[in-house]
Amino acid sequence: MLPLVRELDEVQRYDGVAIAFHWAIALLIAVNWPIGHFGETIEARLGLNLVPFHKSIGLTVLALSILRLVWRLSHRPPPLPLSISRWRARAARFTHAAFYVLIIALPLTGWLRASAGRYPLTWFGLLDVPKFPIARQSAEAALAIGAHKFLAWTMLTLVVVHVAAALHHHLKLKDAVLLRMLPKRARSGQAPHVRQRGN
Ligand code: HEM
Ligand code: HEM
Repeated sequence: MLPLVRELDEVQRYDGVAIAFHWAIALLIAVNWPIGHFGETIEARLGLNLVPFHKSIGLTVLALSILRLVWRLSHRPPPLPLSISRWRARAARFTHAAFYVLIIALPLTGWLRASAGRYPLTWFGLLDVPKFPIARQSAEAALAIGAHKFLAWTMLTLVVVHVAAALHHHLKLKDAVLLRMLPKRARSGQAPHVRQRGN
């Protein structure tokens, strides 16, 4: 048992701040996507208007994502385990870069489309949020609505691929990829590969 515990301790994880950003933003997106998609239906069926919450949660994602990007640019992630093939490493890099674009561009287009709406924009009713100068029913408003929808579906597609890849690594390949993004305590009993790329 002891050698296994030592190996798990050697897994090079993302730092605590990167892990906290990752899971906080993932959770908020998991809550906000269905609210955006089913918002109108929920209002029609239950008389509950969740759109203001959608906007506030989305603005929180935007703020956290900007901070996360700054953190990421100033803190190198741990090297990938050596067992990861070159194409997988490239695919992961591409997906991660696309995520960084999406977690900023998606809420930003939401903010743009909400700016063209008739309702005032607040953050959970606590702070007034300024609106961009976009006229209602203008070509810019239509563009923002189209872009928000397109980016939302692109995000959902990438998340499905990303989660499938993470589970494939953990359950099939049984390597340390998922452990790298989990806090130290939440580790499974499986022995990961501990040799790192670049070591
Ligand atoms: C985590 C970030 C966000 C996600 C995942 C997200 C996702 C979505 C989705 C899936 C839709 C339905 C799209 C459609 O079918 O047209 C939607 C609609 C909408 N989003 Fe977002 N959104 C986010 C951020 C924001 C932000 C920051 C704002 C505004 C400040 C915003 C404002 C809106 C508005 C006004 C709608 C239309 C809602 C309705 O009329 O029912 N979104 N969003
Ligand atoms: C909306 C949901 C999610 C988003 C936007 C997202 C985004 C990201 C991004 C941007 C990275 C790269 C981190 C960096 O290098 O700075 C990453 C890494 C990672 N994510 Fe996610 N993620 C999401 C959900 C999940 C879920 C649900 C899982 C697990 C089932 C997961 C597992 C991982 C793992 C294991 C890594 C590390 C990969 C590596 O070692 O290179 N993610 N994620």
